[in-house]
Amino acid sequence: MTKLVRGFRDILAPQSDYFTEIESAARRVFKLAGADEIRIPTVELKELFVKSTGDTTDIVQKEMYSFEDAGGRTLALRPEGTPGVVRAYIENNFAANSPVQKLFYIGNMFRAERPQAGRYREFEQIGLEYIGSAAPAADAETILILKDIVTAFGIKNYSVKINSLGCPECRPAYKQELVKYLKKDFDALCDKCKERLERNPLRVLDCKIDGPRIAANAPKQKLCATCVEHFEEVKNLLNGRIDYTVDENLVRGLDYYTRTVFEFQAGDGAQNAIAGGGRYDGLVKSMGGPQVPAVGFAMGVERAIAARGEIAPKTENKIFVISLDKTCNAKAFEIMYSLRVKNICADGGLFDKNLKTQLKAADKAGAAYALLLGPDELAKNIFTLRDFKTGSQKEIKFENIYTEVKSLL
Ligand code: HAM
Repeated sequence: MTKLVRGFRDILAPQSDYFTEIESAARRVFKLAGADEIRIPTVELKELFVKSTGDTTDIVQKEMYSFEDAGGRTLALRPEGTPGVVRAYIENNFAANSPVQKLFYIGNMFRAERPQAGRYREFEQIGLEYIGSAAPAADAETILILKDIVTAFGIKNYSVKINSLGCPECRPAYKQELVKYLKKDFDALCDKCKERLERNPLRVLDCKIDGPRIAANAPKQKLCATCVEHFEEVKNLLNGRIDYTVDENLVRGLDYYTRTVFEFQAGDGAQNAIAGGGRYDGLVKSMGGPQVPAVGFAMGVERAIAARGEIAPKTENKIFVISLDKTCNAKAFEIMYSLRVKNICADGGLFDKNLKTQLKAADKAGAAYALLLGPDELAKNIFTLRDFKTGSQKEIKFENIYTEVKSLL
């Protein structure tokens, strides 16, 4: 038998119901905020991610599923949604026609990470890219939209961390200062941080191993006046609307961020980020578009579901249709199907099985009632309705089935 690929999963009910639930909650919140859905392809040219996600990131360095297609192009399965959305923004010429866009997406992402709890090779993200506004209000709104989705889905225990990474004016000097500081005790760094020092020194600050030790004494980011003003305004707009803490060591793992970054965290495991995002004012331009500021987030759906806990979704009251004889099958089928057409959840149709098996199936399916049709009933133009909860039975005339069933559910 050919088995599932390691790191990939089948998502079965009721898990699959939780996915639908969070997606519906998100769609509703996005629509209230005036966001439009964008559906971007799963596959892009690999260079898109190298240029945008960033070639210093773990994602590009070692986690991309890339391959050559028959035409000799090097493609990659998308590891995140932001690059594709920005590419679409540029290619569809939004900047000239309608520069401010709130674009949301729901889709699967692929990262060849070491599989472990909360870390999958294929996972779903619900994301928003708010492109075209440099205002602190856009940062605050983005964070609050994420909060509204988290709340609508029913996640209660989570914390929100925010930080400002500065801009091209103030960050390079800080980076230099930090590298100088870290080099003083280079040998004490973990292997990953030794690499990070070259590629992305800020990430040493949120390393799970070295971070806490380093961050306590390392030089702190000194934001320029405009970045300070921006960050203060973001905080003012968030105050009273969401509980958050400023974490000066929150740096995030992607290259494109400027100024505000944030993470929603639940639990204290290694994979505790249920969502993350931030401002990326330089990305549209660096990908070949005009200078357009932007901010966005992506939420990991699997992690959000784990954070909420498995609350069984409300199931619809179900009718199970049972036929007791070949001569009754056509009528039983007709009723089952006509109930569905009238928006009633009607299951059944296992007419080649005996009564006992059909009743067992009804029980497994969680049906509240069964409609039974045998030759006696057929002769009298009735169904027998069995209430599984009380065990009671009653007869219903064919012509009254819909109204009777409707009144029960
Ligand atoms: P990210 O932090 O790489 O950001 O991913 C966002 C979220 O996706 C994480 O917080 C986590 O919940 C989930 N996630 C990431 N990797 C995995 C995995 N292997 N298995 C399960 N869940 C995972 C981004 O992707 C940015 N595009 C966010 C953004 C949008 N920034 C601006 N706009």
